[in-house]
Amino acid sequence: MNYHIVTYGCQMNLHESEKIAGILREKGYDRESPPEDADIIVFNTCCIRENAENHAFGNIGALKQLKRQKKGLLIAVGGCMVQEEGKAKLLKEKFPFIDILFGTHNLAELGELIEKKRAQRRTVVSVPEARDRLEDGIVPVRTSYPNAWVNIMYGCNNFCSYCIVPYVRGREKSRRMGDILSEVRSLVEEGYKEITLLGQNVNSYRDESGADFPALLAAVASVEGDFRVRFMTSHPKDFSAELVAVMKKHKKICKHLHLPVQSGSNRILSLMNRRYTREKYLGEIALLKREIPDCEVTTDIIVGFPTETEEEFRETLSLVEEADISSAFMFIFSPRTGTKAAAMEGQIEESVAKERLSRLIELVNGKTREKSAKYVGKTVEILCEDRDEKKGLYLGRDEYGRMGYFESPENRVGDFVRLKVTRANGISLYGEVENL
Ligand code: 5AD
Ligand code: SF4
Repeated sequence: MNYHIVTYGCQMNLHESEKIAGILREKGYDRESPPEDADIIVFNTCCIRENAENHAFGNIGALKQLKRQKKGLLIAVGGCMVQEEGKAKLLKEKFPFIDILFGTHNLAELGELIEKKRAQRRTVVSVPEARDRLEDGIVPVRTSYPNAWVNIMYGCNNFCSYCIVPYVRGREKSRRMGDILSEVRSLVEEGYKEITLLGQNVNSYRDESGADFPALLAAVASVEGDFRVRFMTSHPKDFSAELVAVMKKHKKICKHLHLPVQSGSNRILSLMNRRYTREKYLGEIALLKREIPDCEVTTDIIVGFPTETEEEFRETLSLVEEADISSAFMFIFSPRTGTKAAAMEGQIEESVAKERLSRLIELVNGKTREKSAKYVGKTVEILCEDRDEKKGLYLGRDEYGRMGYFESPENRVGDFVRLKVTRANGISLYGEVENL
């Protein structure tokens, strides 16, 4: 039997879809296929911004026809959007053809829900309030060789005022350091070359034995083998000198920090409940660049937060310059029902927010181009990930996440190659391989 999974949202979701595939394989769905040939279609949804939800709604609705034509086809919808208050009910009413609805806390239960659905006509709905089982026992079907994602913690306690994540993913829960290390060791033995440690807020990792994130990161980077380590996402309020020291000491750790700032204005940061100031953020970047001069910083920024003035928006622009940001994910504030910010007075008009976003994008893209251009003539290490058939080139990423393209007569996927950069274009580098 065949399966098809549609994933929305962040790397956490992408990795959870790999776990979903693992569960489906156990249930006899042994091949991935296009939706038309699938016996089960699973949607793994996101609700961080409104457009993520709209996409999912549209695509689920479009399956009505297929479901009618194909007897026995199962449709399951899970993840963050289903976990939102009232959404499972709404989905069930709007799309009565959905067979299974499951939340973020019971992914490990999906196999049992499939069994249950096979035995009954009614939609199976299971959206528990909190996580009862960790997902440690599931063997994921990894889809991103040579990269492997590893969860180190689940949930978030921060309640940034715009963010729905704490409501749909629950409180922070860290996995045991020993379990994480054995997962990393076996991935490295299997030949994975890049390990990405995942958590909503990795800096507040703490396991039962008291190990914190710098300790975990150092231990992961000390695993023997030829691989590199990344982590995301960090929160500026939990940033520490120990983290910088560990990044500096271990060669295997990418000299890249993704540190979401969200805004450059102290008043907006306080309304966002971010619990740091512009000055603290800039101080952290200064420390990082002093200790590790070739380190690069990327960030997330929200424009058009309720009551944001033109002046305050310009503080965000100047922070991008001062913090020497290499690139950023940039968003227009999207009110999420149930969060504090959604109920705030002073919501910003869409046209104003759009205009701010385009100015910000222009500035950040300029910075990105400027940084990439500096690599022309230099040699960078690229982990080859794939082949771009259209371009007829292999591609991979440097430690900062910049894409590098090159020609090669041989398949280099999974190899670290030294790329002599001859040309830069936006976030991409082009060049010749020195170690062919
Ligand atoms: N509106 C816009 N952007 C948001 N993010 C989180 N919640 C919202 C929202 N309601 C952004 C933040 C976060 C990233 C993952 O998504 O920038 O860092
Ligand atoms: Fe959301 Fe803030 Fe938690 Fe990030 S740290 S997931 S933005 S609440």
